Amino acid sequence: MTRKPRYDLLFEPIRIGPVTAPNRFYQVPHASGMTNALPRVRAAFRETKAEGGWGVVCTGACSIHPSSDDSPLPFARLWDNDDIRSHALMTEAVHRHGALAGVELWHGGGSTMNRTSRIAPLSPSGIGWMPTHVGFMGNLRSRAMDKDDIRDLLRWQAEGARKAQSAGFDIVYVYAGMGYLPYEFLIPEYNRREDEYGGSIENRCRIVRELVEVTKEAVGNSCAVALRISLEELRRRPGRHAESEAHEAVTVLSDYPDLWDVKMDSSPTDCGASRFSPEGSHEPVIDFVKRVTDKPVVGVGRFTSPDTMLAQIRRGVLDLIGAARPSIADPFLPRKIAEGREDEIRECIGCNICISSWHDGVPVRCTQNPAAGEEWRRGWHPERIEGKGSDDRVLIVGGGPAGLECAQALGKRGYSVTLADAGTEWGGRLRFETRLPGLSAWRRVVDYRLGQLHRLPNVEFFLESRLTAEDVLEQGCERVVIATGSRWETDLYSPMEVPSGRLDRQGVFTPSDLAEGASP
Ligand SMILES: Cc1cc2nc3c(=O)[nH]c(=O)nc-3n(C[C@H](O)[C@H](O)[C@H](O)COP(=O)(O)O)c2cc1C
Ligand code: SF4
Repeated sequence: MTRKPRYDLLFEPIRIGPVTAPNRFYQVPHASGMTNALPRVRAAFRETKAEGGWGVVCTGACSIHPSSDDSPLPFARLWDNDDIRSHALMTEAVHRHGALAGVELWHGGGSTMNRTSRIAPLSPSGIGWMPTHVGFMGNLRSRAMDKDDIRDLLRWQAEGARKAQSAGFDIVYVYAGMGYLPYEFLIPEYNRREDEYGGSIENRCRIVRELVEVTKEAVGNSCAVALRISLEELRRRPGRHAESEAHEAVTVLSDYPDLWDVKMDSSPTDCGASRFSPEGSHEPVIDFVKRVTDKPVVGVGRFTSPDTMLAQIRRGVLDLIGAARPSIADPFLPRKIAEGREDEIRECIGCNICISSWHDGVPVRCTQNPAAGEEWRRGWHPERIEGKGSDDRVLIVGGGPAGLECAQALGKRGYSVTLADAGTEWGGRLRFETRLPGLSAWRRVVDYRLGQLHRLPNVEFFLESRLTAEDVLEQGCERVVIATGSRWETDLYSPMEVPSGRLDRQGVFTPSDLAEGASP
């Protein structure tokens, strides 16, 4: 199949300072949870995206100094020569497929608790970032930065940029978003300084400008310098000379970076769950940026539809289509559009299991893409799967998410597969869940797999086929997979944590009870 001509625009190369992205598909910085402890896992995870056609593939936030230590969360870092070698595995892997590699240099300021390095956190005015937020609660009060600290920060950024250059990165970031140190300078409630770094918006932007300047000086003409900035809070604030402080900040900094990467301020709006945030939900905050700067602009918004992507470019909102979650759910999204197979895109459902696995301290996993994070460890690939190992016939009982995934994986391997479900439609638990308010996007789990199954002549599937054990045996298949789902736990526990009873009192329901029609 060939690409539809109307999508040609998405495949134009875009110049970013001294480097050129081969197309407009841009995997923005997103953490992998893999850290420098799993460098090959991380490199293979990023390589798969480059292979799948993303023109730029970035790291997640990458600490520039032990005073930005996010432990026990699984953060990346660029502190020493070992870290350079670890990241070089990723840049080499990304370059093998003609993509550019970007690195997001990061200092967390008052948001990091430095639990391992035990260094006092730094901030513009000694105010911790969300110190009373349960998820981030720490025990250290941050220290207000003096002029020496500011000089140190600029030096760490420059050293980080030089290390990034040695590791082979093409795009080096200054990160002024989401509560981290440069962002804390932008917001007056965090920045109560009375020197040239506080007060007016020009002063509050000063540290960001200086960070961009030292980064440029460090990398010279070999790498582009990108600025990732959160604009949501600034956009809420009326400006003195323009519509909002966001307009003023972008105007003040307009020409300094080679690329503007614009986003929201905190996870609930930045990576909003599909239940609350539709595709393209960032637009009302970032729509003005291209009018204020001539530099290319990348932005995000859980983009999975090529038509929405085209519209963003045509309407002058973005130059590059940024993605974190859509690139995890389908590393081959660009390639599928390039090959006219957009109906095969495994669309992100916006469930945010990926980001919550990061908060659990482990490598990201994905509801839609089981290969995510297993590319190196188990050699799994989102598009290729090894052929069958025998002529065994397989019966799969249960057509929920697991049964459907199993059927399409074994079908692609070449097995002769029969899939049976007792219900009148496919999806198992999703039949109930996708009818709850705001959860219709989760239906994509079923739609993608059914779409794949319809292409496989060796898979037969039957609804309204409740099977007994005898029925199963009668089928005579050598292999049987039971995928009839799980139920919510109903055990109660004693103070010694020993199961001590059942949750079976009148008026007490589990989600499984409600899904099956119980009425509270
Ligand atoms: C698992 C995960 C990790 C993320 N880590 C980072 C990060 O390290 N740095 C950053 O700037 N943004 C990070 N983000 C935010 C994304 O870059 C992006 O702004 C957000 O997910 C919205 O884009 P999307 O709708 O394409 O996912 C992360 C997002 C996810 C899902
Ligand atoms: S885990 Fe959910 S939100 Fe994250 S990439 Fe996968 S489908 Fe999207």
